[in-house]
Amino acid sequence: MRRAVCPGSFDPIHNGHLEVIARASGLFDEVIVAVSTNYAKKYRFPLEQRLEMARATFSALSGIIVEPMGDGLLSDFCHDKGASAIVKGLRSSSDFDYELPMATMNRQLSGVETVFLPGESRYLHLSSTLIKEVSDLGGDVSDFVPRAVMRKLSAGAPSPDRGPGH
Ligand code: PNS
Repeated sequence: MRRAVCPGSFDPIHNGHLEVIARASGLFDEVIVAVSTNYAKKYRFPLEQRLEMARATFSALSGIIVEPMGDGLLSDFCHDKGASAIVKGLRSSSDFDYELPMATMNRQLSGVETVFLPGESRYLHLSSTLIKEVSDLGGDVSDFVPRAVMRKLSAGAPSPDRGPGH
């Protein structure tokens, strides 16, 4: 069984993630979407909601499972799950510069390889941060996120009255 891990905050998951994870599942027997918790980070959506959105997104796809990653090392998570690879999407050369030291560190820590997949061009501009900002300000992000995320974003939309100066 060749198993890979696609790790991330997924706050929230978007179509750029989705596309890379679907392609990863064509390369491996099983893909674990590992939803991280970093106590130094401020998330918009709590872990349970990030898991729920990712699970709803992949519910119809076999070979892709969604699990919490915990707050430990990714290399330990991969080792515990018997995963031989981490799969990450790359949107730009700056993504590569950011990812390369982590890929090397993870390989040295537990032997896990990192496989980089070039992001699909129509999603290269996407980030969870940008999606939240556009959505909060009333922009339509329905082309960029799965339906389960759209529902959550719409439910949590801020009030149109954003106070003085807006
Ligand atoms: O979506 P993100 O926030 O860019 O995901 C980052 C993530 C979860 C992949 C990264 O923070 C991570 O690997 N965290 C686990 C902690 C760890 O192993 N740190 C050492 C990396 S070499």
